[in-house]
Amino acid sequence: MLYSEKVMDHFMNPRNVGKIEDADGIGEVGNAKCGDIMKIYIKVENNIITDVKFNTFGCGSAIASSSMATELIKGKTVDRALELTNKAVAEALDGLPAHKLHCSVLAEEAIKAAIEDYRAKKSCA
Ligand code: FES
Repeated sequence: MLYSEKVMDHFMNPRNVGKIEDADGIGEVGNAKCGDIMKIYIKVENNIITDVKFNTFGCGSAIASSSMATELIKGKTVDRALELTNKAVAEALDGLPAHKLHCSVLAEEAIKAAIEDYRAKKSCA
């Protein structure tokens, strides 16, 4: 089987899909090669990520990676969320095929972009 049960589960029943209207940070990234796009919204209170949602226009592995990544950062501090690597996302999914690892990179990048956006907005406030 090419994909683990966890990948299939997060692809078929993705967690945290959607948009946060009054998000504190939004990160949007894309992969120029495959054309996939991922957008992550975060809500932050007292430095804790209290809510996170995503919209991914992309392959099944990208959807599963965004779903898992949002689960992994929910309730964490902003600094802990910044430490999340694509490797940790892939491991939490019980692995991704080698040629699909780049899909988990999108999730790491989208989270980092959302946090950067949050920090940039906060420093102007
Ligand atoms: Fe593009 Fe998976 S093939 S993110």
